[in-house]
Amino acid sequence: MLTVTDLHKTFRAVKREVHALNGVSFAVNAGEVVALLGANGAGKTTTMRMIVGLMLPDTGQVRLEGFAPGSRGYTTRLGALLDTARSSASRLSVLENLEYTAALRGLPPKLGKARALELCAELGLSDKVQAPAQTLSKGMHSKLALANAIIHDPVCVLLDEPTLGLDLEAADALEARVLQMARSGKAVLLTTHQMEVAQRLADRVVILVGGRVLLDQPKGVLLSQFGAQTYRVTLQDAPSDLNLEFPHTVHGHTLTVTLPDADGLYALFEQLRPHAVMNIEKLDADLGTVFRRVMHADVQP
Ligand SMILES: Nc1ncnc2c1ncn2[C@@H]1O[C@H](COP(=O)(O)OP(=O)(O)OP(=O)(O)O)[C@@H](O)[C@H]1O
Ligand SMILES: [Mg+2]
Repeated sequence: MLTVTDLHKTFRAVKREVHALNGVSFAVNAGEVVALLGANGAGKTTTMRMIVGLMLPDTGQVRLEGFAPGSRGYTTRLGALLDTARSSASRLSVLENLEYTAALRGLPPKLGKARALELCAELGLSDKVQAPAQTLSKGMHSKLALANAIIHDPVCVLLDEPTLGLDLEAADALEARVLQMARSGKAVLLTTHQMEVAQRLADRVVILVGGRVLLDQPKGVLLSQFGAQTYRVTLQDAPSDLNLEFPHTVHGHTLTVTLPDADGLYALFEQLRPHAVMNIEKLDADLGTVFRRVMHADVQP
């Protein structure tokens, strides 16, 4: 549905050049949530801005169901939450902001108002419907930005750090909304530094490093390839002199150890020989661990 092909972008300042994007390509399919991950400055927001059409790439192209950024077909299909602080007109009320966006996106006034009120209720903004946007708290701004992004029911939604500053209930509502959009066939691209959010929502993970795609994998494949080799071992006695070649942590009787591959298990048992092992269990991989390992190794699985 959304394709990003070979994006390049260099920012030029006096005596300094930042190669923000160095050939970024990926796709987001219908019904899929893709998490675009990467360290600060990796190029996530720059990529998002190009998809929205707020910034032109030096080279490369973006297409949404065949439409190019800026075309009418593109604008009605895309919804984006980028900079939550600047996404609303400050003197207008919450409702007026949403009605205005709805009108811009081609919704008839009645439908625009209905959608606006529905989204306000869902996101916990109902008692602020008449409040000027400039009087909202930071989290409420984020909620308004989200409502603005999806009011016209776009087929493709971009969310740049959408849960930042949201309270627990609003974050849950956002996550539920993302999953529901994907289930109804929409394409969702999101960035986040909260790995548990990415883990819950993403079907596929794209990791950017230095403006390049380091990795593009289904989440399940990534978790089983990279993360599945962590074991929790319960020992009979709290060990005082543990000599292991693998990275590990010890809490009382419990040892958590990460092996490089499944074969490491034999070596681990050999090294644990002096201790009585009561129990051993394989831990579920988590995306945070995988992300750290990928970033550290700087190699593709
Ligand atoms: N308008 C700009 N002028 C100059 N440099 C810029 C501009 N916008 C971004 N950059 C640079 O491009 C690189 C990528 O920035 P970008 O905002 O895309 O990162 P990011 O992955 O979104 O990071 P974060 O996780 O911190 O949001 C950074 O080195 C940044 O300093
Ligand atoms: Mg960013």
